[in-house]
Amino acid sequence: MSQDSKKELAAKEAFELIKADLMKESVIGIGTGSTTNFFIEELNRANVHIKGVVCSSDESERLVNDAYDVFSLNDVHGMDFYIDGADEFNDRKELIKGGGGALTREKILAQSSKKFICIVDDTKHVPLLGKFPLAVEVIEVARSAISRELMIMGGRPVYRQGFRTDNGNQIIDVHNMPIDVPYELEAKINNIPGVVENGIFSKRKADTIVCASANSIEII
Ligand code: A5P
Repeated sequence: MSQDSKKELAAKEAFELIKADLMKESVIGIGTGSTTNFFIEELNRANVHIKGVVCSSDESERLVNDAYDVFSLNDVHGMDFYIDGADEFNDRKELIKGGGGALTREKILAQSSKKFICIVDDTKHVPLLGKFPLAVEVIEVARSAISRELMIMGGRPVYRQGFRTDNGNQIIDVHNMPIDVPYELEAKINNIPGVVENGIFSKRKADTIVCASANSIEII
């Protein structure tokens, strides 16, 4: 079974999980990435009666069809569900996200939602986070200074050339970063002046992980 088929399965399962709880006042947070795109397809097909959605990127916003009102987070009182993919997850449901560069809004939406359901295929499961490069969103003028700090922490920072986040900032992808205690490193990186956000999701980790493999779907 292809990785895409597994992503699609996880997305469909997540929709099945929340379907019965959707009401006309419900707001769904929608993340970014290829797995989330399958969820958006499912939502578009289902045409459910909800208050609307909040998206973590302009790209996801474009994919949601006209049947749904798209709100800014400032216009709603939080979200009932936040559905998003991940680049890696561990047994504690901590994540690395940000391969698509939308990590800051993703973390804000995850934090503002009652339930964060992460949809993944089994290739994303790791014993220790950090094989996937850790994305750090930075203010442009601080890029080199932050890169030096990240090197001191043991990582190999690589500037994501030609990329701007939806917030107008730049991304440093940190390779081989030792992430022994995700919760501590998440806070430590965010303490460097000029860092907007980093892709470790430990303080606000997933509540539920829907993981599709070739033979089964696991709800963790
Ligand atoms: C976007 O910034 C990311 O956090 C994505 O959620 C993550 O990269 C997973 O992407 P895929 O669903 O495309 O694998």
